[in-house]
Amino acid sequence: MLTTILLVLVVLWLARSLLSDVSLNPFSTKAKEDDVVIEGKFTPKTLAKYNGTDHPKIFMAVRRRVFDVSQGGSFYGPGGPYANFAGRDASRGLALNSFDLECLTDINEKIDTLHNLSSTEKESLDSWEEHFENKYPIVGSLHEND
Ligand code: HEM
Repeated sequence: MLTTILLVLVVLWLARSLLSDVSLNPFSTKAKEDDVVIEGKFTPKTLAKYNGTDHPKIFMAVRRRVFDVSQGGSFYGPGGPYANFAGRDASRGLALNSFDLECLTDINEKIDTLHNLSSTEKESLDSWEEHFENKYPIVGSLHEND
């Protein structure tokens, strides 16, 4: 009798653990697969899709750190004034205070080392970086394409 009760308890406990796993719980509010963001390592190529069009999230890299700027969708979303930065490394544009396409590095190229920035441009980038740190969550880091 005691064994049966113990067995039932173990089965119930196992069922509960399994159901608390969102992937197995049909009633969970698990986000659609496309909304799930794998935090961590991005490359210029993998970052590119987070531009508010190919993916609802908008990410942007500053000095190899990736920020989730989705909340600033009016700035970076499609048609926004800084849409060029969405899904891209915006470091040089922020340093030069320019959203011109020439400030962006092609996603197939090596990451911009920013070695030739002047001290004023570095300072400009510093203050933008601080702005982003205070406003947006960091979701990962930027690494060279494979
Ligand atoms: C025509 C000149 C420009 C005007 C009138 C302008 C206007 C603005 C305004 C009103 C804001 C919102 C400020 C706030 O609410 O905190 C803003 C933010 C911003 N601007 Fe500009 N801007 C100009 C040029 C630029 C340029 C050339 C860049 C290139 C780097 C730039 C990059 C940004 C960024 C990154 C933000 C912050 C958005 C955020 O908080 O996510 N702006 N701008």
